[in-house]
Amino acid sequence: MSPKKQAEAAGSHLSILRFSTAGSVDDGKSTLIGRLLHDSGNVYEDHLAALEASAKKSGSERVSLALLTDGLKAEREQGITIDVAYRYFSTPRRRFILADSPGHVQYTRNMATGASTVDLTIVLVDARSGIIEQTKRHAFIAALLGVPRLVLAVNKMDLVGYAEERFQDIVADFTEFSAKLGVREITFIPVSALEGDNVVERSGKMPWYSGQTVLEHLESVYIAGDQNLVDFRFPVQYVLNPSQNFRGYAGTVSSGVIRVGEEVVVLPSLRRSKVKAIVSAGDQMCGLQKSEASSRDAVVLQLEHQLDISRGDMLVRPKNMPRVATNFDAMVVWLGDAPMDPSVRYIIRHSTRESKALVTGIDYRIDIHTLGRSDPLPLQGNEIGRVSVATTTPLFVDPYQKNRSTGNFILVDPVTFLTVGAGMVIDRARSEDDADIGGNLHQEAALVTDREREARSGRKAVTVWMTGLSGSGKSTIAKGVERALFDDQVPVFYLDGDNLRHGLNKGLGFSREDRSENLRRAAEVAALMNRAGVSVICAFISPYAEDRVRAREIIGHERFLEVHVDAPLSICEARDPHGLYGKARSGEIKNFTGVSDPYEAPEAPSLRIRTASQPVDQSVAEIVSLVLRSSTV
Ligand code: ADX
Repeated sequence: MSPKKQAEAAGSHLSILRFSTAGSVDDGKSTLIGRLLHDSGNVYEDHLAALEASAKKSGSERVSLALLTDGLKAEREQGITIDVAYRYFSTPRRRFILADSPGHVQYTRNMATGASTVDLTIVLVDARSGIIEQTKRHAFIAALLGVPRLVLAVNKMDLVGYAEERFQDIVADFTEFSAKLGVREITFIPVSALEGDNVVERSGKMPWYSGQTVLEHLESVYIAGDQNLVDFRFPVQYVLNPSQNFRGYAGTVSSGVIRVGEEVVVLPSLRRSKVKAIVSAGDQMCGLQKSEASSRDAVVLQLEHQLDISRGDMLVRPKNMPRVATNFDAMVVWLGDAPMDPSVRYIIRHSTRESKALVTGIDYRIDIHTLGRSDPLPLQGNEIGRVSVATTTPLFVDPYQKNRSTGNFILVDPVTFLTVGAGMVIDRARSEDDADIGGNLHQEAALVTDREREARSGRKAVTVWMTGLSGSGKSTIAKGVERALFDDQVPVFYLDGDNLRHGLNKGLGFSREDRSENLRRAAEVAALMNRAGVSVICAFISPYAEDRVRAREIIGHERFLEVHVDAPLSICEARDPHGLYGKARSGEIKNFTGVSDPYEAPEAPSLRIRTASQPVDQSVAEIVSLVLRSSTV
C-alpha cells in the first residue's frame, strides 16, 4: 500500500462518490483514469516501478498511464467475462468507487451492471472532434439512467493548442443538445489526460480556465440527498440458517430505511412479520447488531416469525409496496448484436429475481440526434426505445424514476447468456390500480402473444378514440367508419357512450368521477378487443384530457388514435338531435358538457375533423384511411 493510501485507510468516515466514465479508448478514457489514480497517489509503488521499467525497455520516456487500467483488459482477453469492475480509491477528502469497463466495451453495456447507481458520469470528448454521435448517445443514456450529474471532460486540449475558443465551441454545442436531457448538473472541464492538465493538478497552460480540476470537482461535488430513503425494498439474496436458533435473510437494502421492531411484508406471499434484529453482513456470528439499515447497506435481517422465504422474495413495508407485475412498459437500451426479436423468450433479471420475458410491443425508438421518436421497429444494437414487456412470473417493480434499484432490469439471451438489453421500468397511469391488488391477484401471461395473433391476421388492431361535444357528429361518423372497414374485411367494432351506459356502465352519471370511470371501463374493453385482433371505433364525449391520457395508457400508445370531432357549440346546439341542449339550458339536465360542464379539446390529435364544414362521407374516408395506415404490420 502506498504511504498516502495507508494514511487514508483510516478515513472510512469519508463520504463515498460513485462515478463512471463514458467514452471510447480513443477519447483517452484509460489515460484519464490512469492519470487520476497516479496523480492522486493511488497507484501501488511496485506497479508503477514495473511500468517505468517496461517503458524504459521500449525506449519510451514516459509511462503509459493507460496501462494502469490494463488489468481488466488482460482478464477479458483470457475469457473471463467482465462487463464492469469497481475500482476503489481515496483522497483525504472523499472515497471513490469507479464503475469501470474495459476500454473497448461500450458504455452502454456498463449501465446494465453498475453504472445505474452512480452519482456522476464523466463523458469524455476529444477536443479535436467535438460532440459526436457517441457523446450524445452516452449523455442520453446517462440521463435515462437518472445519473444526476455529468462532467464533460474535453480531453486532448494539448492537441488543439489549449485554445479557449475550441473549448467554448464544444461547451456551446453540448449545452444546446443537453437542454432536452433534463440532467440536473453539467460541468465542463478542459483537460489533457496525457499531459496531466486539469486532471488532478491545475494547468498553467490554460490561464483562461478558472474552474476546478476533475479531481477537485469529484472531491467537492455535493451528492447528499440523491438516495431514495423513502421506499424500503429488500430483495432477499439468500437465506441463512447456520443454527437452529438463527435464521436470517441476507441482502443489500435497495432503497429506504428499516428499523428493528418495524412491520414488514414478504412478497409475493404477503405474509407479515416484524424485524427482530439487524446484523451487518459478515458479522452475524459475532452478533454485531444495528438498530437500523438504510439504502446500500449489506445486512442480515431476522424476523419475529418463521416464514417461508427464499431468494428472489422481497421485504417491503405494508403501506409502501412496489407493483407486482407481469406486464410493464420500459425504456430499453439494446446491447445485443442481433436485433431484438419479439418471438424470443429472454431471461429477465430484476433485483434478485429471474423470469422468462417476451417483448410484446415496441412503442417507438429514440432518434439520438433530435431526441425525438422514430418508427417502432425492433431495436438494433445500441438503439434505445420504449417497449412493453411480459414476464412469466411476477416481478416487484417500481418506476425507474422513483427507484433506480427496483426500476432497472437486464435481458439476457437464453442461448448465449449474454446481456442483450438493459431496461428501465416506466410508470404507467394504471400502476396505482395495480398496487391495490398487491399480491392477492396475480396476472397470468398467456401462451399466445399479441404478436402471434397479429402475424396470423396480418394486421395490428387499433382504437380510434373519437372525442367531441354532444351533437358534434361522433356517432354518425363512427357508424360509417365501422360499416366501411367491415366491408373492407377489417375486423372492427363500434363502441358508443350511450350504448355502453345501458349495460357495462349502467348506473354511472356525469360527474367528474363517473365520467372518468365510464371511460376507464370503455378503454379496458377497447384494449381487450384490440388484443383479440378487433379494431375499435369509440364515440365518447370524453371531455377531460386526463381521462383520454389514461385511455391511451390502457390501450397502448401504439394502438391509440385520437380523433377530435370538432364542431362549434352553437352548431351542436342547433342540431340538438335528442333535445338535450334544450333541457340543459333550462337546468333540467345538470353537468351538461359545453353548457354546464367543461370540454377540454385535444391539443394534438391524430386527426381533427371539422363537421360543420365537411360532409360525413369525407370524414368517414379520412378515418378509414388513418386506420388502414396505422394497422399495417
Ligand atoms: S362521457 O362524458 O362520459 O364521455 P358519454 O359519451 O359516455 O359521455 O355519454 C354522452 C351521452 O350521454 C350524450 O351523447 C348524451 O346522449 C347523454 N347525456 C346525458 N346527460 C349528459 C350530460 N350531462 N352531459 C353529456 N352527455 C349527457
